[in-house]
Amino acid sequence: MAKSKETSNESELKELFVDGLKDIYWAEKHLTKELAKMGKSATSQQLRTAFEQHLTETENQVGRLEQVFEALGEKASAKKCEAMEGLIEEAHELIEDTKDGSLTRDVALIAAAQKVEHYEIASYGTLRTLAGVLGFPEAAKLLEQTLEEEKKTDSLLTRIAETSINESAKSE
Ligand SMILES: [Fe+2]
Repeated sequence: MAKSKETSNESELKELFVDGLKDIYWAEKHLTKELAKMGKSATSQQLRTAFEQHLTETENQVGRLEQVFEALGEKASAKKCEAMEGLIEEAHELIEDTKDGSLTRDVALIAAAQKVEHYEIASYGTLRTLAGVLGFPEAAKLLEQTLEEEKKTDSLLTRIAETSINESAKSE
């Protein structure tokens, strides 16, 4: 990736940080479209509700990222996140490969959504830390809030799978 020459290490690190923000900003915006589809494809009401709730959270996370850009004095901009596009593509394939109205579909949707959450957890963990290192405490706090939401969503998906879906899917 071509980068403009910077004179100090901190400037290059800040550039890396801002690039990471643009990547996750694209990813979150893309997800707001996809979570609605994933929710509609789910079989159990519990999973549908979880996707709907996370859609609302994701919309807030987009707004929170805009606040982060503002705190840095940067214009909010998105850069295509190839990883998220790939994860979403995989989710589409899993929906196509599983039967409508089956719990196996829900197992697949949970697996796909957890891959997305883990990508986000890794990204926000790094970005939160970099915000602190670079001296942007307000941005670090905002990124930490989203990181916690992503972790909670991941745990919720595990709980739904383990308490009400996996076992019933075995008999399909
Ligand atoms: Fe998110």
